This record gives sequence, C-alpha cells and structure tokens, in this order.
Amino acid sequence: MRRIGIIEINEQAEKIPNCIRFDKGSSKFPLPEEVVPHFHKAIENMRDKYCHYPNTGGEPKLKQLIAEIEKKNNRQVSAENITITHGGTSGLFTALSCLTRPGDEIITSQYCFELLSLLTSHFGLTQIRTDFSQIDEVKKAITQKTKLIIFNSPENPTGKVYSQKKINDLAELVEYKKIWLLSDEVMHGVVYNNTFWYGPSTDNERVVTINSFSKTWFMPGGRIGWITSKDKRLAELFGNSLSMQTEGVSLFSQFMMAEALKSIGYEGLLAKRMIILNDYSFGTKRYCPKTFGATKDSLSLLGARRNEFLCQLRTG
Ligand SMILES: Cc1ncc(COP(=O)(O)O)c(C=O)c1O
Repeated sequence: MRRIGIIEINEQAEKIPNCIRFDKGSSKFPLPEEVVPHFHKAIENMRDKYCHYPNTGGEPKLKQLIAEIEKKNNRQVSAENITITHGGTSGLFTALSCLTRPGDEIITSQYCFELLSLLTSHFGLTQIRTDFSQIDEVKKAITQKTKLIIFNSPENPTGKVYSQKKINDLAELVEYKKIWLLSDEVMHGVVYNNTFWYGPSTDNERVVTINSFSKTWFMPGGRIGWITSKDKRLAELFGNSLSMQTEGVSLFSQFMMAEALKSIGYEGLLAKRMIILNDYSFGTKRYCPKTFGATKDSLSLLGARRNEFLCQLRTG
C-alpha cells in the first residue's frame, strides 16, 4: 500500500531543527488552562450516564452548541443540518464519499491542501486545478463530469483569504450548474491584521461546509469537526456514512468539546488563542507584521517563521 507522503514529510521534519514547515498545521501549544477542568465533566458524564455507541451524526448537545457558533457567522443552521466528524479530514472524506462517484471531476485551487490529491485518487476522481480568484477560469474548468468545487479560505498553503464577492460568485455558479460547493472552513479563525473571514451562505442548497476544532481552537488531537448542509437528508447521509466508517465519533471527544464550548465559549477560546499567539510571537520576536491574511499554523513558532518565509517569497 502507498505510504502517505504527508506522514513521511512530518516524520522527517520532526528531526530537522528549525525546519520551516509547509505540511501539517499542528499547533504546539497547550490547551487553555480554563478549559482543562471542564474536561473532567466529560468523563463524569460518561461514568454517571452512559458510554454506549454515539448517536448517528453526532450528539445533539454538541450539535446545538455548534449551531450557535454558526449563528455568530450569520448562518441559520439547526442541529439537524449538522453532522459531527472526526475533524476536517473525516469531513472531506465523508462528503466526497457521499457526493462523488468514480470518474467524476472535482475542481480545486491551483495550490491546495495536499490531502485532496490523495482523496482524489482514493475515490477514483480527476482533480482539475484552477485559479479561484478568476471566476472565468473556474467556469472554463467545469465540464459535464464536474461534480463539485472544493474551496478553502483562508487557503492552505497560500494563506489567501477570499473576498465576499469572489465567494458569492462561486456560490452562484454552483447553483446555476447544479454542482456542489464544498467550503473547507477549518482555518476560518486563523485571520490576522484586520482581515475578515467570509464564507458562503448556507441557505444555498448546493453549499456544504466543512469545519473543525483543530486550527481555530488549537485542538487537533480532539479529532472533532462538523459538516453543515442545508438539505437535512444530506446530513443524514453523511451521518450514515460515518456510522459505516467508524460507528460515529468518540463520545468522550464529543462531550469534551461540548464542555469546552460551554465553559469558555467561542469568543473565549478565540480570545485565548490571540493571547497565546501574542505571548509566543512577540515574546520571541518572530512575529511577521506583513502576514498576508492568514496561515494555517501561524500559532506555532515554526509557523511564524513560515510566515516570514512566505512573505519573503511574496515580496521578493
Ligand atoms: C485546508 C485543510 N482542510 C482540512 C484539514 C484537516 O483538518 P483536521 O486536522 O481537523 O482533520 C487541514 C489540516 O491541516 C487543512 O489544512
């Protein structure tokens, strides 16, 4: 079986001091202190109540809390529109397994998250790369075989944050062409220097969003993410697919994330993230003031160096 390149790169990079990382956006920071005691509640919940198989599609309590997060981004989604996944990776896997068939074409950005190429070959798809900032280029890339566009803002690995206009254009296009727009939003909170994140409207039946607690909340080890879809039948389909893959996401992780959200909340976690970022980046003088929009792992010292490196590439 083919060894996954990203894992090999990760192993090699761990051995190289001060290596500038372009692979995994794994934060090297501890959890916010305030959250940790609340995790014990997650264990107590399981001891006192139950530890059976999780509900298909995710625990209602966590889905409700996630619906609240989406509301802060002006989205009217309810728990029924949400499927809990094992992070963004499982969101992408699940959505592709349900929305594509071998032989389909999918459109991605020119420079996209490496996993997409692996998923493309895993599902027998053809990946067409294009420039999302040129809507005419995207239109040209669409053929009879196109099933979906995977879009990621802030974009990994370029750090590019797409404007509201560009995203609306893409959303209109998928509606017109009756294909899907998979909006990978795992980096949505990783924006700096007055750059604002914008995502497509989830009122559009053709939009499916992928999110995760890995980057914005620096909890990649929790392995929790979610998918939203306007069509509740799609959410059911995603839930069933996850049941077939793993019989659902670990109950402990779901409870843990629910307790974290209840204890210091969405804003609380985001604020904490900025404090930690400032401590680390200004403290070590490795902060790069010219950060353009976002990067996946600006939180880590290596990420800050990566930023500088990218800025140099961009400016010079
Ligand atoms: C653009 C993008 N999507 C999805 C993922 C996967 O997210 P998760 O770590 O939650 O599985 C990553 C991780 O680096 C990513 O960069």
